[in-house]
Amino acid sequence: MNPTEKLLNSLRPFPPQEAFFMAHARRIAYGGARGGGKSFAMRAKLVLLALNYPGIQILLLRRTFPELRENHINPLRHWLKGIATYRDSTKEFTFPSGSRIKLGYLNEEADVLQYQGQSYEVIGMEEATQFTESQYYAMTECCRLYGRLKKPFVPRMYFTCNPGGVGHAWVKRLFIDRDYRGGERAEDYVFIPSTVYDNRYLMSENPEYVRTLENLPPLRRRAMLEGDWDAFEGQYFTEFDRARHVAEPFEIPKGWLRFGALDYGLDMTCCLLFAYPPDRSRLVVYRELYESDLVLSEAARRIRALVGEEDVRYLAASPDLGGRRQDGGKTGFDILRAGGVKGLCPADNARIPGWRRVREFLRAEGAEGVPYLTIFPNCKNLIRTLPRLTFDSHSAEDAALTPHELTHAPDALRYGLSSLPFLPTAPLAEEEAPWDLLREFYGRSGREEYLDFMKK
Ligand SMILES: Nc1ncnc2c1ncn2[C@@H]1O[C@H](COP(=O)(O)OP(=O)(O)O)[C@@H](O)[C@H]1O
Ligand SMILES: [Mg+2]
Repeated sequence: MNPTEKLLNSLRPFPPQEAFFMAHARRIAYGGARGGGKSFAMRAKLVLLALNYPGIQILLLRRTFPELRENHINPLRHWLKGIATYRDSTKEFTFPSGSRIKLGYLNEEADVLQYQGQSYEVIGMEEATQFTESQYYAMTECCRLYGRLKKPFVPRMYFTCNPGGVGHAWVKRLFIDRDYRGGERAEDYVFIPSTVYDNRYLMSENPEYVRTLENLPPLRRRAMLEGDWDAFEGQYFTEFDRARHVAEPFEIPKGWLRFGALDYGLDMTCCLLFAYPPDRSRLVVYRELYESDLVLSEAARRIRALVGEEDVRYLAASPDLGGRRQDGGKTGFDILRAGGVKGLCPADNARIPGWRRVREFLRAEGAEGVPYLTIFPNCKNLIRTLPRLTFDSHSAEDAALTPHELTHAPDALRYGLSSLPFLPTAPLAEEEAPWDLLREFYGRSGREEYLDFMKK
């Protein structure tokens, strides 16, 4: 057997690794948890490509050099002995066929510059969540035909990943949430999940490692062992569980009460619509508007379209809309009202009590083990950003204001829940109804009217 045959014979991928080898989308991600055989799969796939496509140019990246050496340079030197030559000065393996595997690392944001103008048919990013989004985009520009390939080939990128890290958000958006923008096409992205339990080598040879993962604190365990992308350190709403809180949509029954919440900004306008049954046994967020660059009059149009003919009782909106604007001394509320938005009222913007309320609603059980608060899947941005909100590093209980992009939908949710005259865990006793709140929000004046209203 020659060295190549020997190597090929020794590679025995387990099922998710096999799926990774077989995938041929333009962006293929693998893993999602610790010990799922990610580095092995990446290495093996790149070697297979180098052998199968004479002349192919491949770049494999890690965040730091020590990781690169440990995870790839050393193992590849071992695998490729007698198959390809390694040159340490350029960190590349060259095959007699003209194929090349170059290894690199991107420690600093600016390290991408060294690849500017270069072309690789295949780029692998190991532990992709360690890279920033802009590093990822910079590398996509290098992923193109180099020109020495003898067979047709569509340039691709391969990723391995774990939840957490600076790149958590972009990796999750592309491969887990599958929320595509601009020219991104869903069919170009494939995610192949794999956990330590799929790795029969580790399971049999290193059971202590598996036990270590099983003994991690709950959140870290969920992220590292189970590959749960909604659980990562620093997460503000650890209560949020996509599998439970995102529920099958249904037609809102007649008689349910509807209201809305609006977080307005020129950078992003987020409006959420809520509904609950008269017995207040649950609450759903059933529709969202999420759009950037809307001036107030346009926002008014979009909100009217969002609400349609529905009886949305009130819209709790960012209180700063009450401030007078330079253009003509009108307030934001005035402009929205003039644009036909009904039921506007200033939201309660007390952040910490508001967040506590959100937590309360997320935690509460509704009937039959269903969470009290559920979100319809079409409210994509709320579902995407709520679990990504992190703790503020300066205030023990507040949510971080950055990345700003993550704050809009959670703020709207907070406004909405803060406007409610009841909590899920402690339904309001009739005699305790906060009449001034009700008057302000519902325009009702007395207990009878309120109870009557709640029954409708
Ligand atoms: N198909 C395989 N055949 C043999 N050993 C494997 C295979 N896949 C993974 N391993 C071994 O399992 C261990 C963990 O795999 P690794 O690729 O390092 O996981 P990860 O990068 O996901 O943490 C390593 O010792 C690796 O060599
Ligand atoms: Mg690894």
